[in-house]
Amino acid sequence: MKELLTVKNLSKSFGGIRAVSDIGLKVEEGQIVSIIGPNGAGKTTVFNLLSGFYSADEGEIIFDGKPVAGRRAYDFAHNGMVRTFQNLRLFKSMSVLENVLIGRQHVTRYTPLQMMFNTPKKRRMEQKDRAAAAELVAEMGMKDMLNVRCDGLPYGQQKKLELVRALATQPKLLMLDEPAAGLNPQESQELADFIFSIRDRGITILVIEHDMSLINKISDYIYVMNHGELLCEGTSDVVMNDEQVIEAYIGKGGAKRVSGN
Ligand SMILES: Nc1ncnc2c1ncn2[C@@H]1O[C@H](COP(=O)(O)OP(=O)(O)O)[C@@H](O)[C@H]1O
Ligand SMILES: [Mg+2]
Repeated sequence: MKELLTVKNLSKSFGGIRAVSDIGLKVEEGQIVSIIGPNGAGKTTVFNLLSGFYSADEGEIIFDGKPVAGRRAYDFAHNGMVRTFQNLRLFKSMSVLENVLIGRQHVTRYTPLQMMFNTPKKRRMEQKDRAAAAELVAEMGMKDMLNVRCDGLPYGQQKKLELVRALATQPKLLMLDEPAAGLNPQESQELADFIFSIRDRGITILVIEHDMSLINKISDYIYVMNHGELLCEGTSDVVMNDEQVIEAYIGKGGAKRVSGN
């Protein structure tokens, strides 16, 4: 399998805090890889480094065969990497379709002249965009909600919409920061199926998550972070039975509960 993402010796400090310390990761094409760890472990900072929101103090990030150092955050979607945020960032007063169209902006780019004058070509491009966005929404099971305002959707559907909008950028790598946060067990189960259906579209997924049952269900490979460092890595069987992980992340006495999931 081709390595889609390779991270070597990645470090980032904020003042005196070493938020990310000498982290290495590998994500192969078609995999679902997870990063877990307690609050403050440095997981979101890793995402911020990968997606160009922060620049690294040290280390190397190679995506799809090319180093990504020095790229602006805006360029990332164009290069096949897209992320969601820990807190929803949807346009609440816009419809489902309009939110997904925003994701399409990375696919269809209008020239300044096309933006100024509503040329027939521009109108055709817009129609194509709307059709493609509507098709994606339908494929992802949200057809009935196409014209519903985002703030009128149940929370679980809003979380789903955020993923659909990310998909509209046609990424190779989708990075999800705590997608199950705030979901009930039923919604979390649906999310697992949803993530599998995204993978079935040929998209590789890197996910940060707290929900252990979700992690165990979906992950091909897991990295565990604690205090900015990599504590352990492996398949869920390996990670969930690691003494250090049990102690640091799950807490003493929690092993049974986790492996029972
Ligand atoms: N922009 C920032 N400025 C200062 N400190 C930060 C910033 N971002 C993260 N940190 C610190 O880095 C550490 C790791 O945070 P974070 O990556 O958000 O952890 P996690 O996502 O695993 O909960 C924390 O101590 C946090 O306070
Ligand atoms: Mg976080």
